[in-house]
Amino acid sequence: MSRKKGMDSNKQLFLEQIKADIVKNNVCPDLALSAKNLVMGDGNIDAEIVFIGEAPGKNEDEQGLPFVGAAGKFLNEMLLGAGLSRKDVYITNIVKYRPPDNRDPLPDEKAAFWPYLVRQLDVINPKIVVTLGRHSMEYFLPEKKISQVHGQPKRITFGDKKIVIVPLFHPAAALYNGSMRATLVEDFLKLPKIIKLLDNEKGE
Ligand code: URA
Repeated sequence: MSRKKGMDSNKQLFLEQIKADIVKNNVCPDLALSAKNLVMGDGNIDAEIVFIGEAPGKNEDEQGLPFVGAAGKFLNEMLLGAGLSRKDVYITNIVKYRPPDNRDPLPDEKAAFWPYLVRQLDVINPKIVVTLGRHSMEYFLPEKKISQVHGQPKRITFGDKKIVIVPLFHPAAALYNGSMRATLVEDFLKLPKIIKLLDNEKGE
C-alpha cells in the first residue's frame, strides 16, 4: 500500500500496514524469534518532529514501546526541558526488534529495516528528524561524524521532500557520561529555536 496525497486521515492504517509488512516479509527472522515484540513507534503521528533511536532494549521489548527504560526517562526529561512532551513528537528506532543482549544493531539489520523507516517517515511527514546516536544518523548524514555535527541542523532532500536532520548523541550513551550528558542536554535546548525558525519560514 503506498501513501497518496490527501489521505492523511488514514495515517494510522498506513502505519499498521507497515507493521504487517515487516511481519509478512519476515524481516530479520533471527531477531524476530528472540524478541518479544515488534516495536514500531510511539507518540503523535501528526508530529512535526520525529526522533529515531537505534533499537529496542529489554524494557522496550517487554512493553512494545520505544524508549521506556532509563534512556527513555532521560529522553522524556530532555523533551520537557525543551518545552515538548511525548505527545508532541513521534519516537521510533531504525531497528524494530531487540538485538540479543542489547548488542549494537548490525549493518544488515539496519539495512533490512531502513525501507520500513522510510515508509514511516513518508506517512508521518515530519519537518524535523532528530537522530539519536550514530546508527540512525549514518543513514541520513552519511560520511558525517556525530562528534563533529551533533546539535547542528542539516537540511537534506529526503525522497521528494526537504527535511531538517538534527543529529544528537544517544541518551543511553550520554546517561552516565558527564560531559556527553551536558552536551546532549544543551543540544536538546536548541530544538525549540529550530522548530520556530522552520515555522517562520513557512509563514506560520
Ligand atoms: N535505545 C534505543 O535506541 N531505542 C530504544 O527504544 C531504547 C533505547
